[in-house]
Amino acid sequence: MNIILLGPPGAGKGTQAKLLESSRGMVQLSTGDMLRAEVKSGSALGARAKSLMEAGELVPDDLVIGIIANRIDEPDCRNGFILDGFPRTVAQAEALDQMLAEKKMDLDSVIEMKVDDKALTARITGRFTCAACGEGYHEEFKRPAKDGVCDKCGSTEFSRRKDDNAETVKSRLAAYHEQTAPILPYYEKKGLLRQVDGMASMEEVSRQIEAVLDEAAG
Ligand code: AP5
Repeated sequence: MNIILLGPPGAGKGTQAKLLESSRGMVQLSTGDMLRAEVKSGSALGARAKSLMEAGELVPDDLVIGIIANRIDEPDCRNGFILDGFPRTVAQAEALDQMLAEKKMDLDSVIEMKVDDKALTARITGRFTCAACGEGYHEEFKRPAKDGVCDKCGSTEFSRRKDDNAETVKSRLAAYHEQTAPILPYYEKKGLLRQVDGMASMEEVSRQIEAVLDEAAG
């Protein structure tokens, strides 16, 4: 099964994609993670993306479309994938349709995670990640069992994203409302759009997503 998790910054797309990887063996395709890896590696592509990401603006369509087209060709995607952070513009959604048609792949569901802007700012500014294994945490909503120690790998090093500050969040939310929200009617017309309550607890959101996928599987 191939799906899109769609929602504003901090809606919980990454959190839920990781849960689906465990529960269903699908693979998470996060364009944000892929772009951050490019920036870290110092590639030419990363250099084009860096300042835009730090300003909370979208990187050019051609750049992300190229990254996803290459990634979808890898064998693990045949088990089903979760697009997290892509598509983010109507042009990207159209490119995805063309890409999937060429590869004879289907899109099964587009799940919109609805969360208030106010809650998003709190989620983003409180987020931190294990620097060793990448496990995600939150100061209020998901603290490690033992303060300062990663539950998953025991590391004591944590990091925060450069774009996770109150100022940049404003630009990221504006980009979502102006450039990404217009793809909701695009998928509604195709009959693929479903909604879950992203304001609920992580466990409840997960239950709602699993129910949508069970329904899509028939
Ligand atoms: P990207 O990395 O995709 O960031 P984003 O969309 O802003 O989303 P986030 O990763 O911030 O949030 P999330 O929804 O995954 O939430 P999470 O699960 O972590 O993109 C970064 C940048 O890259 C963009 O600004 C752009 O520049 C560029 N880019 C990427 N893709 C692009 C594209 N296709 N086109 C153009 N440019 C692109 O949760 C957030 C926090 O909340 C966590 O701490 C978590 O623990 C907590 N949390 C999660 N769920 C809940 C819950 N139910 N209740 C309480 N807390 C919760």
